[in-house]
Amino acid sequence: MAKHSSGWVALHKRWLLALLLLLSVSTLIAFFIRSAFDSCDRHPEIVDKWVNSVSGSGSRASPLSFMKSKLVLLVSHELSLSGGPLLLMELAFLLRSVGAEVCWITIQKPPESDEVIYSLDHKMLDRGVQVFSAKGQQALDTALKADLVVLNTAVAGKWLDAVLKENVPRVLPKVLWWIHEMRGHYFKMDYVKHLPLVAGAMIDSHVTAEYWKSRTHERLRIKMPDTHVVHLGNSKELMEVAEDSVAKRVLREHVRESLGVRNEDLLFAIINSVSRGKGQDLFLRSFYESLQLIQEKKLKVPAMHAIIVGSDMTAQTKFESELRNFVMLKKIQDRVHFVNKTLTVAPYLAAIDVLVQNSQDI
Ligand SMILES: *[C@@H]1O[C@H](CO)[C@@H](O)[C@H](O)[C@H]1NC(C)=O
Repeated sequence: MAKHSSGWVALHKRWLLALLLLLSVSTLIAFFIRSAFDSCDRHPEIVDKWVNSVSGSGSRASPLSFMKSKLVLLVSHELSLSGGPLLLMELAFLLRSVGAEVCWITIQKPPESDEVIYSLDHKMLDRGVQVFSAKGQQALDTALKADLVVLNTAVAGKWLDAVLKENVPRVLPKVLWWIHEMRGHYFKMDYVKHLPLVAGAMIDSHVTAEYWKSRTHERLRIKMPDTHVVHLGNSKELMEVAEDSVAKRVLREHVRESLGVRNEDLLFAIINSVSRGKGQDLFLRSFYESLQLIQEKKLKVPAMHAIIVGSDMTAQTKFESELRNFVMLKKIQDRVHFVNKTLTVAPYLAAIDVLVQNSQDI
């Protein structure tokens, strides 16, 4: 009897396995059928292929190779050392590396020449990205001719009417809208009224995607287009440093020395463009409270320092002045270090002990 039942269990297991296998194969087939239908539906398949390859596994040699010789227009709201434009620039270089023709326009450019913009423009030109004015005929012609137009951030939506005018409907079906913003003041019709008609939206996290879905519906009564959640990747440069213990040690020593932080001190960091909503104020307040707590309770811990990477006294001056005043007022200038916005964050990551990442998703 025992023998019989164990045989039955084995048989049962085999069936279960076969069933599972069948199920997973059919899910896969359903998935393919669905994406095939999706792509002939309204939006060009290029956007679907695109999003699938960006979000898919990186096992194949070049998942973006289908973009070879395609014309892509990247629309950036600004050109600066902040997250949005830098991510778009990485994308530009990825597309160039598979042989796509890439054009870049920047909507808001300061009238006077700016060192950062100059160097970023040239970085792109050096790598074969064509850079031109967001307002001229060339921008319009390229938008009409392009295989794919990537609008970066919600505020880039204002460019559509301003430049394309009556041609907006011709361009929308090939627009992939990459949205990074989380805060309320971006849910404005001015920015996003064309959102329902673009080929797709790409958003960095599920929480943000949900937020956009409900906010656009509740506040603006508009429907999000097909929305794809594509998490941000790791930079190759960071991974290389992370794997190189000698490089890490050298960078750590160098940065600490330049800040006056000893090897045994505890170094906290927040690395973001300094701006309201990125949470540097909360970071500083908590840091100060911990210092007080340590003092009150006479705790024996290493000396603590905080570093804020992403300072820019030419941009969000009011907010950063508040931060700097707080530091002065609490007399913690020797413990808090501000570092200008920079493209090279690897040295700071190597130098610190704790990275504090704010959550814009709450
Ligand atoms: C940081 O940026 C400010 C302008 O915002 C500039 O005056 C200062 O020299 C910069 N500091 C360093 C160390 O580059």
